[in-house]
Amino acid sequence: MPHLAILSASVRTGRKSHHVALHLKRSIEATDNTVDLLDLKEFDFPLFDERLKFMKEPSAKVLDFAERLRKADGVIIVSPEYNGSFPASLKNVIDLLTEDWKGKPVSICTASGGMFAGTQVMVELLFPLWKIKAWVVPSSMQVPKVQEAFGEDGSVLVDQEGWKRRTDVFLNDLGWAIEARRRMEA
Ligand SMILES: Cc1cc2nc3c(=O)[nH]c(=O)nc-3n(C[C@H](O)[C@H](O)[C@H](O)COP(=O)(O)O)c2cc1C
Repeated sequence: MPHLAILSASVRTGRKSHHVALHLKRSIEATDNTVDLLDLKEFDFPLFDERLKFMKEPSAKVLDFAERLRKADGVIIVSPEYNGSFPASLKNVIDLLTEDWKGKPVSICTASGGMFAGTQVMVELLFPLWKIKAWVVPSSMQVPKVQEAFGEDGSVLVDQEGWKRRTDVFLNDLGWAIEARRRMEA
């Protein structure tokens, strides 16, 4: 069964997009898939200064992050929208591991405080992910007014049926990409 990683990108005090990451984790745990939550707030990485492959003495945290990302058959990036883009914390780790992203199925989930649900983040994030040859799954999940939609334990606060449907489609499409890649490598 596929093993997924969720990359929760917000390191902001009082962050809300992390609640969406917890919702996705709960949803995956209810399936046969396994899941690992890579919380960038917990990793607390310093500002990027070089790619892992060129680091002479990578920290244990960097090695742990890289290993857990490599192990994942697919990755879900949960990103907040900050001024029409994604946070620096996310670019920090995209640049860290360029080769490891190559061919990796990656699904994007965006969240914003406003009505537009991080649609601008989608566009911004596609470029670096294409550049490092991640295999970006066309299906995305976009959460408007995230502060009203999910509770801090990942519970769904509004439109339960709608979020269940959107989440299922989102996860199924990632599962399709993972299976397609597996067959290509068989
Ligand atoms: C620096 C900054 C810029 C932001 N810019 C936008 C924005 O362009 N559009 C929007 O809808 N919300 C914006 N927000 C609100 C965030 O989307 C909101 O905080 C949301 O909860 C997701 O971020 P979080 O996971 O850090 O909480 C911004 C928040 C911050 C901190």
